[in-house]
Amino acid sequence: MSKPVKQAPREAADDVMGDALLTAAEICKFYEMGSTQLRVLEDCNLRVSAGEFVAIMGKSGSGKSTLLHVLGALDVPQRGQVMFAGQPVFAPPNARRLTSGMTDVLSGAERRRIELRRRAFGFVFQFYYLLPELNVLENVLITRMVGTKTLGWWRGGSAAARADALRILTRVGMHERLKHRPNELSGGERQRVALARALVHKPRVLFADEPTGNLDAEAGRKIMDLLKELHQEGQTIVMVTHDSGVARYADRVLLLADGRLQPASV
Ligand SMILES: Nc1ncnc2c1ncn2[C@@H]1O[C@H](COP(=O)(O)OP(=O)(O)OP(=O)(O)O)[C@@H](O)[C@H]1O
Ligand SMILES: [Mg+2]
Repeated sequence: MSKPVKQAPREAADDVMGDALLTAAEICKFYEMGSTQLRVLEDCNLRVSAGEFVAIMGKSGSGKSTLLHVLGALDVPQRGQVMFAGQPVFAPPNARRLTSGMTDVLSGAERRRIELRRRAFGFVFQFYYLLPELNVLENVLITRMVGTKTLGWWRGGSAAARADALRILTRVGMHERLKHRPNELSGGERQRVALARALVHKPRVLFADEPTGNLDAEAGRKIMDLLKELHQEGQTIVMVTHDSGVARYADRVLLLADGRLQPASV
């Protein structure tokens, strides 16, 4: 049973400046729903140092996934900026496109955002998002495949990617399930494959959205032990969880409420 989370004053914008791997400053994200506007993130600030493990908690619907998607360059905020390694992740607000279609010519900022997702960020989604037609090995390989030009792939890229995929699948204990499709795996096994997919390109930041949310205690503990090991090896992790026991694995816990983050203790 989770203990209630104690609240403290919210993170100030000033605190997010300075030397950090990832910062979010004054992030605003809202959804237009007909004539009404659903304001999810309002002047939300965050600062993550290299090697830090941060947990974000908050009520269902408070915007945790939305925030993680913005931090991980998967979604675009209306206002505010995310900085990664000293570089802006999004174009300036007036040049920002909130949706991108297949026929759009990609702007420099959008290309950079895609590169960050391919090379620097790894994402474990709340609902796995494994491709049902692909087996375990292929689901992990696909991350490397989309990040490599066709020629590079056939000129040895595929062998190197396969070796990396096998190494990370062994690490998460899934090397004996390479030919299984996602529907032939347990929930815990699917999550371990999703973790392998997020890690195969050695991301500088791992984002994990409720990595234990759909698992029983034993499977959840295995995932958390893996995250702890990775963190001890220096992996920067930003994790969302509703479970204070899971949040305790992190160096620092923040609470998302009213669109903003504030320090919390669990
Ligand atoms: N694409 C969208 N269009 C409109 N509203 C959305 C969209 N995505 C999310 N929302 C709304 O934004 C709010 C925040 O959603 P989000 O998924 O970020 O919450 P959460 O904190 O992750 O919740 P949970 O703990 O249940 O996963 C919710 O009220 C949700 O209904
Ligand atoms: Mg969520």
